[in-house]
Amino acid sequence: MKNKHLLKLLDLSREEIYEILDLADQLKYDQKHGIPHEVLKGKTLAMIFSKNSTRTRVSFEVGMFQLGGHALFLSDSVSQIGRGEPVQDTARVISRYCDGIMIRTYAQQEAEDLAKYGSVPVINGLTDFSHPCQVLADLMTVREHKAQLEGLKACYIGDGNNMANSIIVGGLKCGMDVSIASPGGYTPDPQVLDFAKSVADAGFTLTADPVEAARDADVIFTDVWASMGREGERAQRAKAFVGYQVNDALMAVAKPDCMVQHCLPAHREEEITEAVFEAHATEIFDEAENRLHAQKAVMALLMR
Ligand code: CP
Ligand code: NVA
Repeated sequence: MKNKHLLKLLDLSREEIYEILDLADQLKYDQKHGIPHEVLKGKTLAMIFSKNSTRTRVSFEVGMFQLGGHALFLSDSVSQIGRGEPVQDTARVISRYCDGIMIRTYAQQEAEDLAKYGSVPVINGLTDFSHPCQVLADLMTVREHKAQLEGLKACYIGDGNNMANSIIVGGLKCGMDVSIASPGGYTPDPQVLDFAKSVADAGFTLTADPVEAARDADVIFTDVWASMGREGERAQRAKAFVGYQVNDALMAVAKPDCMVQHCLPAHREEEITEAVFEAHATEIFDEAENRLHAQKAVMALLMR
């Protein structure tokens, strides 16, 4: 892998994404079969969390342990980051102790700055702009279930948030057709829409109509209507997203074997019904599990 960091999928080539997915499959096999793979023995990952997490924290910490290394947790409330120590200084200090940094925060620029001022690999564990580790796990899961990604139709219903942005980039780079249904005012980031336009032969659709987006889909993604940091807009968003629900009626226009992916946490009866969630729970929890394997691949490639 040529990239020194994983800041956003826009930075990665198609080959680099497949390199991560292939290694993730291998590491999953090794883990399931008890084959040792302690390729990061003696290495340390600092994990900076300015937002809450269940999956990201547990999967990075466990992943680092399985690779023979150690991960340490830093939150705003227990570190000087919460008291305003500049990212330029945090980056240079942590780089003197640790072999890599994972960050979950608000501004994408903060992750980019950590990489700019630090001297160790930086991994984006979610920003307002992107969630690359999640979408690598999603691509891994879809490929496990469908054997390949090229030519599949991926559909995303809902908020044009970090997940939508990353699904567009990851899906198109891997040769999928991508169709997004978002209400006006909640469409994906302009930088990502420009990227989609720039891809030759991209099968890309942005529509306000969920049925158009979901028609003949091989996989339907959705995510919460109010992401972390947007909780104050919950009531207004609940109105704006009426009709943007993954339910049985929407599933009926997709392919009969259409998968469902949700990065979790899910809000049942908002972006997805209980019935659709439970009918696709195996795929959704495979997706959650694959965070572990995909991130182990990222860490092994960047920190080895
Ligand atoms: N999907 C995801 O990133 O989950 P957490 O917020 O629990 O880390
Ligand atoms: N879009 C959601 C994803 C959570 C994993 C958020 O940013 O809160």
